[in-house]
Amino acid sequence: MASITLSGVRKSYGTTQVIHGVDLTIEDGEFVVIVGPSGCGKSTLLRMVAGLEEITEGTVDIDGHVVNRLEPKDRDIAMVFQNYALYPHMSVRQNMAYGLKMRKMSKADIEKRVTWAAGVLQLTDLLDRRPGQLSGGQRQRVAMGRAMVRSPAAFLFDEPLSNLDAKLRVQMRLEIKRLQQELRTTSLYVTHDQVEAMTMADRLVVMNGGVAEQIGTPMEIYERPRTVFVAGFIGSPNMNFLPARLDSGMLALGQGLRVACPHAPEEANGRDVTLGIRPEHLVVAEQGEPADVQFIAHMVEPLGAETLLHGRFDGVEANVALRLHGTPDVQRDARLPLRLRPDALHLFDPASGVRLTE
Ligand SMILES: Nc1ncnc2c1ncn2[C@@H]1O[C@H](COP(=O)(O)OP(=O)(O)OP(=O)(O)O)[C@@H](O)[C@H]1O
Ligand SMILES: [Mg+2]
Repeated sequence: MASITLSGVRKSYGTTQVIHGVDLTIEDGEFVVIVGPSGCGKSTLLRMVAGLEEITEGTVDIDGHVVNRLEPKDRDIAMVFQNYALYPHMSVRQNMAYGLKMRKMSKADIEKRVTWAAGVLQLTDLLDRRPGQLSGGQRQRVAMGRAMVRSPAAFLFDEPLSNLDAKLRVQMRLEIKRLQQELRTTSLYVTHDQVEAMTMADRLVVMNGGVAEQIGTPMEIYERPRTVFVAGFIGSPNMNFLPARLDSGMLALGQGLRVACPHAPEEANGRDVTLGIRPEHLVVAEQGEPADVQFIAHMVEPLGAETLLHGRFDGVEANVALRLHGTPDVQRDARLPLRLRPDALHLFDPASGVRLTE
């Protein structure tokens, strides 16, 4: 068990800096997920913690010891990769035992640990097979097992589920989360899948262009995204963004649409703003209830449990998505009166993208 602290961590390849100073502490037993688009530096950051990449500047500290100069094998960390990196000519048992054998552990102890991990991961009946004789999900579990038998201070995962089909991904996601809750091993997990990130993380790190743009619990990040980037990345379908102008606590949108925004900060008055509203926070006004805007549906996507509508607000050009429970009878070109919940209106600075509302 261990805590991991990154302080002012930077990485450059030649003259190109790709990680611009990341500060992050992963508490003992915590499951932290790094999420962000392709190329934002997730793997690079993870590989610096593992010792597979040199740290250009800053420190990585594991349980109070700076490990910058330690070899990967001396960091007491186990990594699970996207491609599993199993030895094809070895059996499942040999794959799981290999790292322990290298560490000169006794045969009896190795046997004990492999048996334990195989039991937990439901691999007992597959121990004599080779990786080529396993399904993707089973291979993924062998890779997990190989990490588990070492009882490392921490697990590092780099997109371990991205090679699996959608259904198996959901199953393995629950499996990994359950295992981590049982073992309480400090974990750092990289993914570009925001659903995986939201559901697995104790805390999330949303990365953008080599910067940790926001760190917090999934709900903190969903409810109070610090930037337009974070707001757009977390949540599905994406948050809607509309250009607006704030005057005396009223938002003016498009041609003449005006909406009260009681939570807008005083100093944002008289300024252009970006209004953000999540599709699930647009509610159809009840009969007789006054509407804030009229929504015009251009496309209807029934998904069974919910229905997505794509269209726009009357008088405003921008695209707006809206999410309704169940399968209400809405036709193309239908007009729906909507209420805008004041607490669901997020305001951002259009130039910097930084959040303006509390
Ligand atoms: N060896 C290298 N030399 C030069 N640039 C590199 C090297 N490795 C990575 N990069 C660059 O560093 C940046 C971050 O890469 P990284 O692999 O960490 O991204 P990532 O967030 O893991 O992306 P993905 O989701 O696609 O795996 C990218 O712009 C990449 O091109
Ligand atoms: Mg990567």
